[in-house]
Amino acid sequence: MYPVFSYNIGHEEIDAAVKALKGKSLTRGTYTEKFQYNFSKYIGSKHCLVVNSGTSSLETALELLQLDRGGEIIMPSLTCRAAVDAVILKGGTPVFVDIDPDYFFLNPVKAAEAISSKTKAIMVVHLYGGTGDIKKISSIATNHHVSLIEDCAHSVGSEFDNRKLGSFGNLASFSFYQIKPMTTGGEGGALLLKEDMLYKKGCYLVGTTDFGHRSELKNWQSIISEKSAQFSYPGHNLRMTEMQAAIGLVQLKKVDKLNRKRRVIAGKIDEIFSAYSKYITIPKIHPKARHSFYVYTAKINSNYKEWRNKLMRSFFKNGIMTSLMYCPPQHLQKVYRGKIKVGQLRQTETISKQILSIPVNPYLERKKLNDFLNKVEKSMKVFK
Ligand SMILES: Cc1ncc(COP(=O)(O)O)c(C=O)c1O
Repeated sequence: MYPVFSYNIGHEEIDAAVKALKGKSLTRGTYTEKFQYNFSKYIGSKHCLVVNSGTSSLETALELLQLDRGGEIIMPSLTCRAAVDAVILKGGTPVFVDIDPDYFFLNPVKAAEAISSKTKAIMVVHLYGGTGDIKKISSIATNHHVSLIEDCAHSVGSEFDNRKLGSFGNLASFSFYQIKPMTTGGEGGALLLKEDMLYKKGCYLVGTTDFGHRSELKNWQSIISEKSAQFSYPGHNLRMTEMQAAIGLVQLKKVDKLNRKRRVIAGKIDEIFSAYSKYITIPKIHPKARHSFYVYTAKINSNYKEWRNKLMRSFFKNGIMTSLMYCPPQHLQKVYRGKIKVGQLRQTETISKQILSIPVNPYLERKKLNDFLNKVEKSMKVFK
């Protein structure tokens, strides 16, 4: 069976992990520092805080915005529940607005209309490795003096207008969970920050500063100095280990090559699907975007329930798992009732019934890839 998501930990990652385990420190050391430096440089942001998950990174971003004072976050409902949970758990209110159905991306006009005096930020998600006009959303956020958070969990290395996603927002969140475009060995995340003050505070929230590690201070005087014993904010421990950072450094070097392969595979699936354009629409890529195809998400054209079930069954019978990301959309989850604000979400509701994600596995060798593509073609014949 071809799973929807895949990962690959090779000998380089294992060697790096072992080396880190034999190093001077198991946490808060040189691997973490280097990974933070390399990752922020790769994306093009000023600061990076690596953490233990994408959820922790989103929660830190939202905690920095002090939602507990009654803030609203404008966001799409077609997203991972982690984003919605993070807003609610940090005391804020998700304000769901509709998406542009072409790119599965927050509709800029609707986002602008939803801004109120309570808005703290617009949070976008770059779904499936693609994006919409993030520049337009960024100017809306700037003009209205609200923050922009990018959830880049699906899109390490994707671009808009020759800039990496994650470099547009004041805050950008990444997940290194095992099935994401790159992993730090199962769990992990990163928060990118542009502003020095937010970064300083973020260090406390994540737990990289003053956390009872007095022995690490420079000399004995500093151990007993009043000043060094003071801390500025209450925080958590969301830290990544040295071993995770060492694995992340290796995976980061591979991500561009893997993304190129993902684009080639997506092109081949496009070719197969194009013969079935009466039934299914291939993913549209924004003219300024560089997609990285975390998954290949197409849209069923009509008779959504019947055709999508038929297709999913056919893929399964041929040994390919498929996924519905995200159906139902989050505003229809009963658990959020009374905790969210919902506008007209016509596109979101329709899209969630249409979407079907199929795997894009860049680790497949040529023979296996041909087998996979043959099975995709065979699965589509259910429409003949
Ligand atoms: C879009 C999106 N945001 C955030 C997350 C949360 O990341 P993590 O699983 O690392 O906590 C995910 C996770 O799977 C995701 O798909």
